Amino acid sequence: MKPIQVGLLGLGTVGTGVVRIIEGHQEDLMSQVGSPIQVRKVLVKDMRKQRHLNIQPELMTEDASEVVFDPEIDVVVEVMGGIEPTKQLILDALEQGKHVVTANKDLMALHGPEILEKARANNCDVFYEASVAGGIPIIRTLMEGFSSDRIKKIMGIVNGTTNYILTKMSQEGAAYQDVLKEAQALGYAESDPTSDVEGLDAARKMAILATLGFHATVGLEDVVVKGISSISKEDIGYAKRLGYEMKLLGIAERQDDQISVVVQPTMVKTSHPLASVNGVFNAVYVYGEAVGETMFYGPGAGEMPTATSVVADLVAVVKNLRIGVNGKQGHHAYRTKKLKTDDQ
Ligand code: NAP
Ligand code: HSE
Repeated sequence: MKPIQVGLLGLGTVGTGVVRIIEGHQEDLMSQVGSPIQVRKVLVKDMRKQRHLNIQPELMTEDASEVVFDPEIDVVVEVMGGIEPTKQLILDALEQGKHVVTANKDLMALHGPEILEKARANNCDVFYEASVAGGIPIIRTLMEGFSSDRIKKIMGIVNGTTNYILTKMSQEGAAYQDVLKEAQALGYAESDPTSDVEGLDAARKMAILATLGFHATVGLEDVVVKGISSISKEDIGYAKRLGYEMKLLGIAERQDDQISVVVQPTMVKTSHPLASVNGVFNAVYVYGEAVGETMFYGPGAGEMPTATSVVADLVAVVKNLRIGVNGKQGHHAYRTKKLKTDDQ
């Protein structure tokens, strides 16, 4: 069968993992989708940069139009990050009838409805599993696994960088700045780590989870945010002595037609399962009226876990292509209904 052609926007931490999985798991992927998946073009900012991956030089480009306007490309995988020019590239790709997979929570939290509307208008899929909690398939779980339930609460650790920092400060007495540098070197942090440590990255993810879990449009402006930059080793030490771990928690709740979403450093009792989520790991607790309590755990950032979610989305797009239902499935769609939030 004709290979599926992929255009990759970005070859950093996540993009490198995506190429590795497409190449390394080709046989398993083929057995699921029925045709080979090929990377046809890769956009980077600087082609002279040293890469941790052997990639044919002719696949690389600094010209985005070679990806989004190439008629041979079926799916654009966006792992470059940021809002612009990324948003315009995605809209252009959708306009060309290309399906899109993205790991970009900044973009989906701020412009999700516009992007999904453009996708619908062009019968295209936009999937974004990797945008929240790296390797944990929490978006599919909320959209599909819990579609029959009424979700009342979503709570969790959804930023790997801050959890890595807080864990090292708590367990090793490490200094905040040193551990932040480590998290950056390991590829966990955003290109501007302010969004990690000030809680914005977690807030974007919680806005996405609340939107999907509560079937309402919850924007970043609806989330009350406080990060960890003012937390000291002493604060963590006091918490420990009292029997608590300090965690950056996102908490989204709905009661009747009220939704509240908060991201803040929280003292979690050491006996609570979230207290033992350490390092780059994330965990998301979901409480549904019918199902009761559930919890999902796994690596929240990093090359291969994140790429796993990206390539899983790619497989979903290709399966839809095979049966001709791209853009027609209800899952991953935002509803426009806005529920009242606490401050309204
Ligand atoms: P990264 O390592 O900084 O890589 C970004 C890539 O995009 C680089 O290859 C860069 O090119 C390219 N790029 C950036 N701006 C560009 C532009 N204007 N034009 C052309 N190319 C451009 O980032 P990352 O960590 O892989 O993250 C990518 C996305 O995934 C972000 O949206 C991030 O929030 C999301 N994400 C990351 C993780 C994680 O663990 N890292 C987890 C989940 C989601 P050069 O290589 O030439 O600089
Ligand atoms: N910077 C993010 C984190 C990447 O540390 O969780 C994964 O979304």
